Parts: sequence; C-alpha cells; structure tokens
Amino acid sequence: MSQSTIYVSLDIGSSSVKVLIGEVDGGSLHVIGVGNVQSAGIRKGTIIDIDATVQSIRKAVEQAERMTGMQIREVILGIPANGVLLQDVKGVVAVNSENREITDDDLDRVMKSAQVMSVPPEREIVNIIPKQFIVDDYDEIKDPRGMIGVRLEMDGTLITTSKTLVHNILRCVERAGLVIREIYLQPLAAGTFALTDDEMNHGTAFIDIGGGSTTIAIFGDNRFVSTAVIPVGGDHITKDLSIILKTPTEHARKIKHQYGHAFYDDASDDELFEVPVIGADSKDQYSQRYISEIIGVRLEELFDLVLEELYRMGIHDLPGGVVLTGGTTKLDGILQLARHVLKTRVRIHTPEYIGVREPMYSTAVGLIRYASMEDSYFGITAESQTAVAHSEMDYPSPAKKKVAAKPKEKKTSFMSKTKKFFDGFFE
Ligand SMILES: Nc1ncnc2c1ncn2[C@@H]1O[C@H](COP(=O)(O)OP(=O)(O)OP(=O)(O)O)[C@@H](O)[C@H]1O
Ligand SMILES: [Mg+2]
Repeated sequence: MSQSTIYVSLDIGSSSVKVLIGEVDGGSLHVIGVGNVQSAGIRKGTIIDIDATVQSIRKAVEQAERMTGMQIREVILGIPANGVLLQDVKGVVAVNSENREITDDDLDRVMKSAQVMSVPPEREIVNIIPKQFIVDDYDEIKDPRGMIGVRLEMDGTLITTSKTLVHNILRCVERAGLVIREIYLQPLAAGTFALTDDEMNHGTAFIDIGGGSTTIAIFGDNRFVSTAVIPVGGDHITKDLSIILKTPTEHARKIKHQYGHAFYDDASDDELFEVPVIGADSKDQYSQRYISEIIGVRLEELFDLVLEELYRMGIHDLPGGVVLTGGTTKLDGILQLARHVLKTRVRIHTPEYIGVREPMYSTAVGLIRYASMEDSYFGITAESQTAVAHSEMDYPSPAKKKVAAKPKEKKTSFMSKTKKFFDGFFE
C-alpha cells in the first residue's frame, strides 16, 4: 500500500501570505488545506515589520489548519529572489566503501564538499542544485548511487542571498511558532514545475508578477540559469488607480479585480461602473476602457523593464518564450499586452490542482512539489515526516500546543545537509 506524505508550504508574499497543506501520494498532489491572508509588514519581498508579518503568517496558518483539522508544525519556506547570487561550484570526494560502490553517504559528502567554499560572511546559502555528477571519467550522471568508482565529483550551482534578508524571514516564521523543514528559492521551486520539458530545455523566462515585485527566472539546458527582481507589481496598478480615480486603495483594488483590463483595444466601453470619491459623497463613473489605459501604461512600463533586465542579464534569445504567473496575471488582456511588448510567445501558467487554480499559488504549489521531489531523490520516507499533527487523533491536548518535533534524521539524508544551513541561525 502506498503511503501518502503531508507537506505544508509557506509563501510570504508582499500582497498575501499563502499556506498550503498538500498530500503527496506517489506522484500526485492533493491540496487539502489553503490559507491566504492579506499580508502586513512585507514590502517588495523584504520584511519591514516583524510583528505584523508574524501576525499575517499566524492567520494564514490558522486558516489552513481550520480547513483540515490538522495542526501545522513544519513548513517548506520560499525565499524571494531579491539580491540572490548564483555561482558555479564543484565538489570532489573519494568513494568511501571498500567495494567502491557509491552510497548515500558519498552523495552527501560530495554535496557538502561543494559548499566548502568561501561564502562571504554577509551571505547565506539558500540551495545547491546539482548539474551533473562525474564518476571517474564519466560525466553527465544524474544519480551516481549504486555505481562503482574511485572518485566522485559534482558540478552544481550554489544559490546565496543576503543573510539579513533571510534571517529576518526565518525569525518571523519561528516567532509564528513554526519549524522550518526546508527552504527553497521561490522562482526555482515555482519555475521547475510550471515549465514544460521543452521550455526548460530550450531557454525560457519564467516571470512571476506579484503584488510588490516581479521576479524573472531564466531556465535553459534543463536548469535554473539566473534570476532578477524588478520592484514593480500589481499593487502599483492599484495605487495608480487609487490616485487617478481619487478612490480609496481598497476600492481601487476591488475595481481592478472586477473590471480590470490590460489591453485598451479589447477593453469594453459599453458598461459604466461607479467609484466612490475620497472626501466626497459623490461617485464617479468609469468604463473598463478608461481604466485599461491606466493599467496598460503601468504594465507596459513593467514589460519594458523586463526587456531591459533580460538585456542586462545577457539574454538575447528565448526559444522557449515567456511563461507568466503570479496574481497580477489574472488581469484580462495581460497576455495580449505581454505579447505586444515582449514580441515573443507568451503563456500564463496556473497550477492545475483543485483549490489552488489561481496563478498566485504557483510558488506555494512549487514549494511542495520541489520538497517532494527532493525527498524521493534523497530517499526520505513518509515516516520521517512531521509536517502536521492530527490534533484530534495524535495530540488530544486542549491547549493546542504546537509540537515542534524535529524530523527523524535518516542516516545520510538530505536533512543533514539542510540542517547545516540553519545551524547557529537563531543563536
Ligand atoms: N482577479 C485579479 N485581477 C487583477 N489583479 C489581481 C487579481 N487577483 C489578484 N490580483 C493582484 O495580484 C497581486 C498579488 O499577487 P500575488 O499573490 O502573486 O503576490 P505576492 O506573492 O503576495 O507578492 P510578491 O510576489 O510581489 O511578494 C495583487 O496586486 C493583486 O491585486
Ligand atoms: Mg509572490
């Protein structure tokens, strides 16, 4: 009988905090709990108010818990791509066992040896992604375990970020009473599962247009190549609408969601809607076409910034085109506008799971799938998962105390690698 595993992901966005509880059975994911609350204390992926952020995280966690009757203890956390650096690294070890068969232990050691390089004191390792393993003179190996050899090498990409940024995020998560099981760079986790094999291989820009920021991630040759963040997102559109229509932000957001259109030519001029005016008893009337001009100008500027950033990154050709995701891609007409400005093939990615069929959930879904993929690669089994407690069954305590049980470590599991990153974080 196959055993399912529960994963909980946490995406602390500048617009909303998302918490997903997912059950992974074999290869398939079922989202069984969702928490989504407007965030406070986060701007452009950076924490500006710890207490407000902690409150938002708690609320989102409670929402997801209520849906399932489970108690969340451990989360898979997404780290934003602001200030991220990617560098090529190499690890080399001698195969340990007498019969020269490569084991989990050798894999663990070669990955660690690739990280034993000088990371500046102000930077923190987020992830290491293997590109290939080399066993003696044979390269391009995906999984060396079980092979026979003397020398094991690994070429990989090391992702580092600002220590201050990541520590503040971790502090908030910890203060919200959660244990971090794993961290992944957000666009790495989201893009890996949003792109098709061909897109991944040919060279594609995966672009997440969120609330406070837009994250570009380039994938090609089946790997994550580079990333950049533009500090502009859907909340700028809301602000533009609020200022130009002289209406409160909350109304501007509602109007954007209900009537918003990004492509002037396709926006409707027939129907008028009423908008309350700040400081007046009156209401003004506008058409979708009128507001599409305001939205279009901001988004056109954003896509121009994307082009500039791609140029700066040295990307001149994207045979796989562009894949858009993030809450802002819900806007009607955004696809037409993106195609018009970016002059390439563009599609929108939406996760195909019941309960989270919205482009704003791409990151939270990607985090669960990435963790599940790594668990099966590193051989972490269902018994070692402690993401949630079934409050009624396992922990009948009325005092709803969070049980922050540490995951059982397998002898040479990936967890030991991860633990290393967090050692000394909260001293
Ligand atoms: N139906 C809709 N139409 C237009 N915009 C929408 C719609 N639904 C959500 N949005 C916008 O999407 C944005 C939020 O997207 P998302 O949840 O992906 O951002 P985030 O992850 O919180 O922020 P970030 O990634 O920038 O930190 C907000 O600006 C919101 O107004
Ligand atoms: Mg986001």
